[in-house]
Amino acid sequence: MSGPTRGGSSDQGVSTVSTVSTSTVSTVSTSTEAVHAGTPHHRPHNTLAPGIAQTATYTFRDSADLERYMRGQDPDIDREEYGRYGNPTVRELETRVAALEGADDALAFASGMAAVTTALFALTKAGDHVVLFNDCYRRTRQFVSQTLARFGVEHTMIAPGDASALQAALQPNTRVVITESPTNPYLHCVDLEQVAAIVKRHGRVRTLVDSTFATPVNCRPLRFGIDLVIHSATKYLAGHNDVLGGIVAGPQHIMSLLREARGVLGGVLDPHAAFLIARGLKTLNLRVERQNRTAHTVALELARHPRVKQVFYPALESHASHLVARAQMRGYGGVVSFIVEGGRSAAGQVVDGCRLAKIAPSLGGVETLIEQPCLMSFSELSDEELQRVGIDPALIRLSVGIEDTSDIVADVIGALDKLALPLALP
Ligand SMILES: Cc1ncc(COP(=O)(O)O)c(C=O)c1O
Repeated sequence: MSGPTRGGSSDQGVSTVSTVSTSTVSTVSTSTEAVHAGTPHHRPHNTLAPGIAQTATYTFRDSADLERYMRGQDPDIDREEYGRYGNPTVRELETRVAALEGADDALAFASGMAAVTTALFALTKAGDHVVLFNDCYRRTRQFVSQTLARFGVEHTMIAPGDASALQAALQPNTRVVITESPTNPYLHCVDLEQVAAIVKRHGRVRTLVDSTFATPVNCRPLRFGIDLVIHSATKYLAGHNDVLGGIVAGPQHIMSLLREARGVLGGVLDPHAAFLIARGLKTLNLRVERQNRTAHTVALELARHPRVKQVFYPALESHASHLVARAQMRGYGGVVSFIVEGGRSAAGQVVDGCRLAKIAPSLGGVETLIEQPCLMSFSELSDEELQRVGIDPALIRLSVGIEDTSDIVADVIGALDKLALPLALP
């Protein structure tokens, strides 16, 4: 695993990236990495926790100091000039995520969508072509199919896991292939090694994987030959449902293009948000391991419940991408989707019957959240349109938190047990 390339410390009371060597920590466990990788061994003022450099701009001692900096001759290579171009608190978060993903470098953004849109703007121009998978996050799909289309970028949408469709979709002008793994809400796991191998045969095409649902605890896409990994840090990385953020990690030569684009587009992460995400990151491994175990238990309980028609969880052998997930993931994640017998209103009764799980969009935090996608992300679609995009009106998505596994199981199974549905007579 290579470490981030920048080093040094700032004089803001917020040390940046004179770090514990990531090659050292990579040989130890993920929990240790989540706490220490990419952090400095000693901080200014001997603080254990990082400070927050809450500043919009940076000062220069005199004109000679400024001129030296502008000529690129400042001895402090981490020195910043203006908040849109960099911040030491944000930089430490970036360094830590780069270490966890095994990337040269990472960049933080104001939200997951700021990360996705900046990356795609940085890597495409009019006349280019993008391939994306049809169960990408709907705003990513919207950005590619509507916004990028307005700037003259074409796209082809294919089904996840369809290698021959990917092969056929690649054109001489294809520059980006973007996917998620696992996908939302059916948790399809894409064979990342296969995607990277197919795409590499086509030369100048970059592969981007939104790994929000996996986290670096469960899967590290760069190890499979993927170029860039993206996270909505709002979800598992921050983990507390109290902050928005996004991350892209990858090789230096691509990250420098994204850094340039971020400075122009301006979707930077606020230093206070960076502090919160960095704090959340320390418990990432603990939380995700617990969420993996709880979600698996919930999935098994759901699978044997008479009012459940189908369960989608990659650990189950019945899941379409179980074998891919088993080969490339350490754990199967904290989200379980399931279809309830009795249609839309029965699913609504189950959601309403939960007491612990709260109805909300988002996922990956310490609180268990539940939602019916047809009423949330897909609320504007008619039943016919839902059918066309493959969303069952009785589908429920559950993002397990860190509450006791038995309480989460009791909550969801209890709500299913209360379902006022006559069971079909034999
Ligand atoms: C897989 C995935 N990627 C990206 C995003 C966008 O992230 P954010 O809400 O932080 O902008 C989301 C949001 O739900 C998501 O689920």
